[in-house]
Amino acid sequence: MALPGFETTVEKTPEKPVGPTGRQKHEFPDPRPIKRHGPARIISLCNQKGGVGKTTTTINLGAALASYGRRVLAIDFDPQGALSAGLGVPTHDVTTIYDLLLNGKVDPKEAIQQTSVEGLDVIPANIDLSAAEVHLVNEVAREQILARVLRKVSADYDVILIDCQPSLGILTVNALTASHGVLIPLECEFFALRGVALLIETIDKVRDRLNPAIELDGILATMYDSRTLHSREVLERVVDAFGDRVLETVVGRTVKFPDASVAGVPITEFAPEHAAAKAYLSVARELIQRGAVA
Ligand SMILES: Nc1ncnc2c1ncn2[C@@H]1O[C@H](COP(=O)(O)OP(=O)(O)O)[C@@H](O)[C@H]1O
Ligand SMILES: [Mg+2]
Repeated sequence: MALPGFETTVEKTPEKPVGPTGRQKHEFPDPRPIKRHGPARIISLCNQKGGVGKTTTTINLGAALASYGRRVLAIDFDPQGALSAGLGVPTHDVTTIYDLLLNGKVDPKEAIQQTSVEGLDVIPANIDLSAAEVHLVNEVAREQILARVLRKVSADYDVILIDCQPSLGILTVNALTASHGVLIPLECEFFALRGVALLIETIDKVRDRLNPAIELDGILATMYDSRTLHSREVLERVVDAFGDRVLETVVGRTVKFPDASVAGVPITEFAPEHAAAKAYLSVARELIQRGAVA
């Protein structure tokens, strides 16, 4: 018991809530509107593992950035065409990214399609793109072909997002060669870290030989389930391995994503109040704050 006059007031430090990455949680501010558009910063969404959220992130990050007034062009760079389908645009009897890679005379603007989201355009792909690897092998400067295509449209956009296929082949090397930055979506699953070392090695090789300016913009944890110890442990290991390169925003696991893809619209349109829509808005704000996007 304290003597009269000697009561100690225990300074209670305000609780600082910690986010899932172990860092102090905070809201990223709404970005300032931009008045002059372009030239675009080009970002590849890359991970040679399939089903980790590359396409979902391209769609929803693209829509989120567009909602903040950024002009966004999404490139479907996977012959599966999931990005095109998820944005509800046709992929047949239209000019696709394959046509642009193969024929330098085709104007890339011919391939651009608008989506239901204002400010978000897309260049589609279809299964034809799977033949590109074979065709490009004999091209001069075959790693730089996509870069040449994107140079022609860069002035009209603030950001170009390239949805890569799950491989580290010549298409992905083209994407990395064309890019200023790479964002790696990583599923919060046990084997997630396998392969990331190889991916980073590939990025380093591209930096050495083809594109000295390329940066790792971040690693985005997806399909995170805070209720499972497993998800929390995987995220902890990812943060141990990559530190601040892991974005503070993580995307939770929810069936809303498959539902939105079937509907052919981003989750920010399909269920704007859902936590998953808010997560991608936060990813957009975080990337803007980090300077990865204007
Ligand atoms: N956060 C998430 N929660 C639940 N399902 C997700 C989430 N993100 C993506 N998905 C689903 O997982 C599957 C694979 O995602 P996708 O973005 O196509 O991966 P990738 O492009 O890397 O192959 C899709 O069916 C998608 O709807
Ligand atoms: Mg995909």
